[in-house]
Amino acid sequence: MKTVLCDPRADAVLARLDDEARKQSADMRRYYDAKKQQAKRTTDPDSAEDMAFVRDKFVALDPEKCDLCYMLCRSIKARRVVEFGTSFGVSTIYLAAAVRDAVRENGGDGIVVGTEIEPTKAKVANANLADAGLGQFVDVRVGDARETLRNVGGPVDFLLLDSWIPLVRPVIDVMAPQLRPGAIVVCDNVQIYEREYLDYTSFVRNPGNGFRSVLLSHEGGLEISLKLG
Ligand SMILES: C[S@@+](CC[C@H](N)C(=O)[O-])C[C@H]1O[C@@H](n2cnc3c(N)ncnc32)[C@H](O)[C@@H]1O
Repeated sequence: MKTVLCDPRADAVLARLDDEARKQSADMRRYYDAKKQQAKRTTDPDSAEDMAFVRDKFVALDPEKCDLCYMLCRSIKARRVVEFGTSFGVSTIYLAAAVRDAVRENGGDGIVVGTEIEPTKAKVANANLADAGLGQFVDVRVGDARETLRNVGGPVDFLLLDSWIPLVRPVIDVMAPQLRPGAIVVCDNVQIYEREYLDYTSFVRNPGNGFRSVLLSHEGGLEISLKLG
């Protein structure tokens, strides 16, 4: 799989994960088509039924968005990165590669703090990161992100929010005080679920809360926010 990482070992793991995710996509299409047909496609993407269905699914961030996260991390020399929603570690591989490359370039150390509520997923994510040669740059915390992210050990350069929508606002509340001035926050799917994300977007789009924010209209939308000093 060709990514912006220029890392054959990581690319090989990403290609394998992409294959595995594609195998799930037929199932996912069937599930959501059936819901549509029954006129039951809920506007709540986090209904108990949907959550149970996706419990063992990748629901990985799109490769272009992962590439963009890598580029943003590199451009700000991110060394402490936090991810809400690790799943099997697809986006985490890009974030960890960015931290590794920043450490190689500038010395010192760096870490991606990942979070995953499903212990089985976290275990597989750790194995995938080790396969990619990136295990030493990641600490996947198992449990509810609202608790596991209370103290990430220092100022955060980059935050990726890629999880269940109702938890995103509580997580930014926990994370905002830990972001350094100039930190970047990326949040997925804010356009396709515009209404559901209102409590989040109204927070980061209000300059009074210390952010400047822009929506990229691509594949469901990506909100990119800058934490001011
Ligand atoms: C969209 S997936 C993440 C995909 C991942 N970023 C990737 O690109 O591969 C969201 C993940 O958040 C996890 N999650 C849900 N609620 C959580 C919580 N309260 N704390 C931590 N993780 C949670 C889910 O189990 C799921 O694996």
